[in-house]
Amino acid sequence: MFSSIEFDNFAIHIIDQLKLPNELVYIDIASIQDAWLAINRMNIRGAPALASLATLSIAQKLHNTEYSSTDNLLSDVNDACDYLYTARPTAVNLGVALDQVRQAAKTADKQAIIDQAILVWSEDVSRNKRMSDNGANWLIDELEKKGKIEKGGKISILTVCNTGSLATSGYGTAFGMITRLHELGRLERAYYAATTPYYQGTRLTAFEFVQLSIPSCLVCDTAIGSLISSGTVQAVTVGADRIALNGDTANKIGTMQAALFANAYDIPFTVVAPRASVDRNLQNGQSIPIEQRPAKEAVTVRGVEVDRNTLASVRLAPKEIGNDPLHTVYNPGFDVTPARLISAVVLETGVAVARNNSSDIDVSSLL
Ligand code: MRU
Repeated sequence: MFSSIEFDNFAIHIIDQLKLPNELVYIDIASIQDAWLAINRMNIRGAPALASLATLSIAQKLHNTEYSSTDNLLSDVNDACDYLYTARPTAVNLGVALDQVRQAAKTADKQAIIDQAILVWSEDVSRNKRMSDNGANWLIDELEKKGKIEKGGKISILTVCNTGSLATSGYGTAFGMITRLHELGRLERAYYAATTPYYQGTRLTAFEFVQLSIPSCLVCDTAIGSLISSGTVQAVTVGADRIALNGDTANKIGTMQAALFANAYDIPFTVVAPRASVDRNLQNGQSIPIEQRPAKEAVTVRGVEVDRNTLASVRLAPKEIGNDPLHTVYNPGFDVTPARLISAVVLETGVAVARNNSSDIDVSSLL
């Protein structure tokens, strides 16, 4: 299993996801600013992965610095947390992980802070395996119980964006659930949305399915309604960037339309994520900050191969689009799926579903 982040004796290397799938290149992260830039420019992306990189960069900084006083140590930790928090706005995992580091800083013990910072990364894979197992078992039970598959039958499932080893420290969340179904011999085929305009599906999820030899099928975002209405998939599973306490979930743009179709055609829609994706301060999803991406990403196709060593962006839209106030671009990076469209929120601690005809899902029961 490969991982988006390699951490060895305080050396940090990340896969440059901007170059995938054409090249598998690693970038050296040698400072907190390197980590901020890698997150902000999306050399690394995916909520758990960016939280891990942020805290590992703090561990690295502390390890490499001799502090003359506790005040200096604590002020460095605080500054680093404040700065890294600004790298990207929607995924709450970053804020949760940095808060854990701030908590550890209350001990004023450098080693305790380093240990906590490393824990965010090192615990990720086992956490992902637990939630993936929870999700796979819940879905199998649900589909068998409702007679949507035969006992022991296989499942075809749709996912959005990339939630695999590239988006985490390994195994993945919604992607992990698909991997688990495959390991259990219960996966027919995984369908994944291209996820325009950044193409996390076409570039990254595709790459991971090839690496793992999991049967897969690329679906254009515009074909999701067609796919679900055809009855080809029996379920949808996605990751999360921020889950409110009532189950409302922010995830990659396009997630909500998959949920609407799943709901219309009565197939389960699951959200699979770590507890760190839950925003304990949010009752519902209305005030989740949504990152607006640059118009450039919507009017160009990136990564077109010019020759073996060169990738270029090709402009699809007329040059006025995004450059002229008369012709603007709407390009949010995420949308918020209301809890009423979600069948189950799956965390490493268990599965929460709506109860008593409520349209909300009580996620706090799993925290
Ligand atoms: O903009 P990205 O690529 O960072 O968005 C990623 C997603 O929306 C993922 O679905 C989410 O972070 C969960 S990753 C396990």
